[in-house]
Amino acid sequence: MSRVAVAGGTGAVGRLVVGRLRAAGHEPVVLSRSAGVDVLRGPRSALVAALIGCDAVVDVLGPTGPAAQTAAGSRAFFRTTTAALLRAGHEAGVAHHVALSVVGAARVDAGYYAGKALQERQLTVRREGGWTLLRTTQFHEFAPGLAALGALGGRGRDPRVVVVPSFVSQPVAAAEVADELVALAAGEPRGAVRDLAGPRVEVMADLVRRWLRARGRDARVVQVPLPGRFGAGLRHGLALPGPWARLGRQPFDDWLAAQP
Ligand SMILES: NC(=O)c1ccc[n+]([C@@H]2O[C@H](COP(=O)([O-])OP(=O)(O)OC[C@H]3O[C@@H](n4cnc5c(N)ncnc54)[C@H](OP(=O)(O)O)[C@@H]3O)[C@@H](O)[C@H]2O)c1
Repeated sequence: MSRVAVAGGTGAVGRLVVGRLRAAGHEPVVLSRSAGVDVLRGPRSALVAALIGCDAVVDVLGPTGPAAQTAAGSRAFFRTTTAALLRAGHEAGVAHHVALSVVGAARVDAGYYAGKALQERQLTVRREGGWTLLRTTQFHEFAPGLAALGALGGRGRDPRVVVVPSFVSQPVAAAEVADELVALAAGEPRGAVRDLAGPRVEVMADLVRRWLRARGRDARVVQVPLPGRFGAGLRHGLALPGPWARLGRQPFDDWLAAQP
């Protein structure tokens, strides 16, 4: 049995990682604000204390709030949290740091992806301690998130129009990402491993349409090109995996059919 800290262990993928660690007989330690540990603003002593006795840290933190969607906000979040986890992990004697990034973040290096690209660089220049970096495409769960974010008009859960960025993706099941992170955390540090993507190329607006239809909602889904390098990157397929990526098994529609 090993003790594994999960930074962001209450989030979309983090909670799946925590469940799988527990099911495999490991001891997960959740680091998140709701679990009493603020990695961004909290004291280093609290982080070190939480990490003592851990064999690995899985970093699946994600920023909240609108500032996190700008390049400056995203960079500030990932620069600070990654440095805090690496430093505290080193002090606590944690041998392995596993981080999750997004396919194409370094190619786009703008908007939210600027912070992910910076997080990747912080790991790849690291001299002391072992690390593993997994990049995946968007989770299937991303489409419902966009549907909620882009809802306009109508009442509450029944919007008339949903605005979605023009975005080509090859989404993957968060459950498969969690399986992979648990396997990586249990092994030796491997540096950057092969990207993981879903089995099919999809257009985000279509995924949102299918999600809304499955929920009995007939909102009109409108695609809008996001401005700047970030928007162009999403539109032109820079977030798609290369031919070297491993592909997950579950397509979006199978995931959708399995949702309660
Ligand atoms: N979603 C995707 O499609 C996708 C795809 C590929 C890679 N990724 C990467 O995977 C990571 C996780 O994504 P996700 O969608 O699972 O994120 P998420 O659902 O937004 O969860 C974010 C987690 O971070 C925690 N957190 C936020 N601020 C914190 C702070 N100051 N201190 C401690 N904990 C904090 C949150 O818990 P509290 O609110 O309780 O603090 C939560 O557990 C991100 O780095 C993202 O870039 C995501």
